[in-house]
Amino acid sequence: MTAKTVKLTTEGGEIPLPLLEGSVGPDVVDIRKFYADTGKFTYDPGFTSTASCQSAITYIDGDDGILLHRGYPIDQLAEKSNFMEVAYLLLHGDLPKQKELDEFSYTISRHTMLHEQLATFYRGFRRDAHPMAIMCGVVGALSAFYHDSTDITDPQQRLIASHRLIAKMPTIAAMAFKYSIGQPFLYPQNNLSYTGNFLRMTFGVPAETYDVNPIIEKAMDRIFVLHADHEQNASTSTVRLAGSSGANPFACIAAGIACLWGPAHGGANEAALNMLREIGDVKRIPEYIARAKDKNDPFRLMGFGHRVYKNYDPRAKVMQQTAEEVLKELKLTDPVLDVARELEHIALNDAYFIDKKLYPNVDFYSGVILNAIGFPTEMFTALFALARTVGWVAQWNEMISDPEQKIGRPRQLYVGATQRDYVPVKER
Ligand code: CMC
Repeated sequence: MTAKTVKLTTEGGEIPLPLLEGSVGPDVVDIRKFYADTGKFTYDPGFTSTASCQSAITYIDGDDGILLHRGYPIDQLAEKSNFMEVAYLLLHGDLPKQKELDEFSYTISRHTMLHEQLATFYRGFRRDAHPMAIMCGVVGALSAFYHDSTDITDPQQRLIASHRLIAKMPTIAAMAFKYSIGQPFLYPQNNLSYTGNFLRMTFGVPAETYDVNPIIEKAMDRIFVLHADHEQNASTSTVRLAGSSGANPFACIAAGIACLWGPAHGGANEAALNMLREIGDVKRIPEYIARAKDKNDPFRLMGFGHRVYKNYDPRAKVMQQTAEEVLKELKLTDPVLDVARELEHIALNDAYFIDKKLYPNVDFYSGVILNAIGFPTEMFTALFALARTVGWVAQWNEMISDPEQKIGRPRQLYVGATQRDYVPVKER
């Protein structure tokens, strides 16, 4: 069978470019020799048409609203699996057998504590520091504490670093919350589940026994599953780019956290709930829809739209159901959920949103659940970071193990001044 190619016509003639086929999804034009053959670069700011790597972890079909982790649909994982199992799946490629799952969960539980010295880092932050600022700092600082898992050429050290990061993120995030409200830090309690342990470290106090509410535990775990990975998004690409230089895993994940913080990415969950609160009443929705459509107004509907999904984000569907279930089971009502439902309804029937294929994304409903559980909005993106750490380390490991891996080094279309001579300051 002859290899497939596409032909590119240039002034120098036709150039055949190899076409690479994945197991599913669009073929990819291999342009690695393009510059050497033509002396030209390709141009794709924002990577709208560029595959930056090959990966066997997560697949998205944005037109049909499909998300698969290692082949398994996200709705099945959200309904039937749990975060520990999904973490194993993402890292190792297949669903674990019971023994493998038990061993994995045990290993993660053995890494939940933080080096005691790290607690002093928190005291260097203002009490009103954003939890994401603390997360960036503390996760980066792990590099200074766990020297025995920073040799990225050793697969065993990479695995230990991955386990450490997955295990310590709940402790780090819970401590960020405790610090902001002036309560003492709680040590992990490893007879609890991954998620139960996180809830206790966040909402428990030393003076009382904390009973994990199974409804909240399940909802929180599902939120973690829904955020676990999402192909080559901005923060994952940041982790890969940082890792491509050989930086240690803790530094790479800190870079991912920094990228996730932005409101166009993970920061949208905080921004979405703040927006829903600001709207406050279904009567005010048309005003905000009008603002979102106004080219002269920078306002956007937060939790709406996606670079890849041109259909309903499959995570948003599960998130909406979970929000309804959690409020019902906790016997809570939240006017914000009414605003969210109505805003979605109006937007999905508006020509602007229909034409641009803008649908609710994962961040649209998650805030309603997190708010019902008791998290302040500033914690929302930290929870996203906690869960996405699994995807980040899986993608980072995959990249380091890839023999074709090179340092990431994009080029540019230069539009600045051409060469000119230096002029001494007095003569300018
Ligand atoms: N509200 C109003 N208009 C929008 C929105 C929105 N939320 N999103 C996109 N548009 C418009 C945009 O103005 C543009 O219009 P035009 O073609 O007339 O200039 C068009 O739709 C395409 O937008 P874009 O910014 O070129 O698309 P993108 O793929 O670069 O951006 C996005 C994707 C997610 C950054 C964007 O939809 C957005 O800013 N959404 C709000 C923030 C948000 O919810 N982010 C979370 C994403 S999902 C979770 C995650 O990644 O962490």
